[in-house]
Amino acid sequence: MTIIHVEDVSWRRNGKYILNDIHWKVNKGEHWAILGLNGSGKTTLLNMLNGYIWPTTGKVTVLNEPFGQTDIRALRKRIGWVSSSLQERILATQKVEQIVISGKFGSTGLYDDRSHLDEEKAYTLLEQLQCAHLQGKEYGVCSQGEQQKVLIARALMADPELLILDEPTNGLDFIAREKLLDAITLITEEADSPTLLFVTHHVEEISPLFTHTLLMKNGTVFSKGTRNEIFQSTSMSTFFDKNVIVEWKFNRPSLTIPE
Ligand SMILES: Nc1ncnc2c1ncn2[C@@H]1O[C@H](COP(=O)(O)OP(=O)(O)OP(=O)(O)O)[C@@H](O)[C@H]1O
Ligand SMILES: [Mg+2]
Repeated sequence: MTIIHVEDVSWRRNGKYILNDIHWKVNKGEHWAILGLNGSGKTTLLNMLNGYIWPTTGKVTVLNEPFGQTDIRALRKRIGWVSSSLQERILATQKVEQIVISGKFGSTGLYDDRSHLDEEKAYTLLEQLQCAHLQGKEYGVCSQGEQQKVLIARALMADPELLILDEPTNGLDFIAREKLLDAITLITEEADSPTLLFVTHHVEEISPLFTHTLLMKNGTVFSKGTRNEIFQSTSMSTFFDKNVIVEWKFNRPSLTIPE
């Protein structure tokens, strides 16, 4: 099954191409890391996959649903999404479990038909993300790392087929970041786990759980492929317009600028 197929896509705003000439295919069983400098178009591309913006030219198919012939609202229910814009919409006074359960309804507000089964599922998800102890706490008092996990549990509440995490490790300390990566790894090991798209600025987070990497530069795909194909010193130096050396530590890439 093809999870994502983006064919010759562009997106123009105010006479300027924000995205251009995008070709990208994600198959079931793959997990992708997405890397690119600020403003390279990562979030815009993900917004397009969610149907929040419409391609100016080209064709987008997500979860076998070709855009233009599909009910975007129904499609969105099959996609879990965690981003900073979601974080801003969460009420600080809401209880952690309420937030997780709200993922089932695709809303961030209140709802009234929550069942015992929903509560159990929310608890299981919090457990899976190693934060069951947050039950009963207000979202606002949770640490940033805890908040990210709550939002990921929320996104998983609707059993998404595609899980999009846009810079989930932003602002996390070294330990919290590794814990979050561990939790994400566990999710991908579950039966029927969602296909993962993970945006980061930190290449050392691109652990073996990610089968592939997409490099975005100036609104287009600079390159795409397996981790080993992508993390080569020569191509990375062209990508960053800077001489960089790729090294591998514990099967994760790291970048250094030589003196
Ligand atoms: N609605 C819009 N109208 C006009 N320009 C936009 C719009 N949305 C995004 N852009 C521009 O598109 C470019 C790409 O933005 P985008 O948010 O996709 O970058 P990004 O790769 O996610 O960056 P970051 O790493 O900082 O999150 C930026 O120059 C941004 O200003
Ligand atoms: Mg972004």
